[in-house]
Amino acid sequence: MSYKILISDPLNDDGIQPLLDRDDMLIDIQTDLTDEQLLEIISNYDALLVRSQTQVTRELIEKGVNLKIIGRAGVGVDNIDLDAATENGIIVVNAPNANTNSAAEHTMAMMMSLSRKIPQAYASLKSKRWERGKFLGTELKGKTLGIVGLGRIGAEVAFRAKGQRMNVIAFDPFLTEEKAEQMGVQYGTFEEVIQAGDFITVHTPLLKSTKHLINADAFKQMKDGVHILNCARGGIIDEEALYDAVVSKKVAGAALDVFEEEPATDNPLLELPEVIVTPHLGASTVEAQENVAVDVSHDVIQFLEEGSVQNPVNL
Ligand code: NAD
Ligand code: MLT
Repeated sequence: MSYKILISDPLNDDGIQPLLDRDDMLIDIQTDLTDEQLLEIISNYDALLVRSQTQVTRELIEKGVNLKIIGRAGVGVDNIDLDAATENGIIVVNAPNANTNSAAEHTMAMMMSLSRKIPQAYASLKSKRWERGKFLGTELKGKTLGIVGLGRIGAEVAFRAKGQRMNVIAFDPFLTEEKAEQMGVQYGTFEEVIQAGDFITVHTPLLKSTKHLINADAFKQMKDGVHILNCARGGIIDEEALYDAVVSKKVAGAALDVFEEEPATDNPLLELPEVIVTPHLGASTVEAQENVAVDVSHDVIQFLEEGSVQNPVNL
């Protein structure tokens, strides 16, 4: 028996080597397909491997009559219609642990860049201006970091923030006071966390329940001059509300790696000097890209060979 596997987003070459090594698996790497082209060819494949660019819609899943497994080389599965996959008997797997460190480090890099206005100062000096008075920063030491979502990445950010001598307060529906104490983190309700934070960072998945979790009402409850970070998913923060909160100076600065619509080249938030941005780079390290590709490759091989995987996302 041989299987055909389509890789429709760029994945790390070393990471997919376990698949390339197989004689019984034909690997087709086509990362520039239009939605229409993908719909036309998907029925030829037993497995589909994606990152976050390919939108795995119900229509695509229903056309994929031979699909058995969809592998997401990363954490977030919000680009995959999980209900449609389940209804069509297709397993979805992701790589939940493979980019945790990378995303946590990126969050810390963004927090330090935000507090010291490094991107703004860099752009100024690169355009041959020497503006020492313009970029007065704020220290992290002694400030409170509010974390919304204390899962894998949130917990790693908490650990690092304590290393910066910040106080950390966190909210997560699965967090208990006892667990928070073990982690050296203060336990808070959502309201307590957003009211206490000098810096607030979100690390939840994008779900119906977390869409616009940080909205105009939440901004009203925050401290004046709060700093906001989103290195999780576009849509957890209401971008229009964030825009207004920055313009009104309620929010002193924001650091965004993810956006409601990506690519985000026309996003109005890009116009605001207080908002620093990266183009969804949280998982973009050599290590994480190899790890995510290795993990999903192994899952796909195991599933096609044995008919089961350890932790499917949907079934
Ligand atoms: P995780 O599942 O380990 O943690 C998410 C946590 O959010 C869980 O503990 C969950 O209980 C909590 N949560 C759910 N709803 C909540 C709510 N309403 N309020 C507070 N907490 C809530 O996931 P993770 O691996 O830590 O990933 C977190 C996010 O980061 C995901 O959205 C993922 O897609 C994203 N991510 C982004 C990048 C990037 O490139 N920027 C890289 C990796 C992960
Ligand atoms: C993820 O959810 O893993 C991230 O968005 C990283 C990515 O796939 O680029």
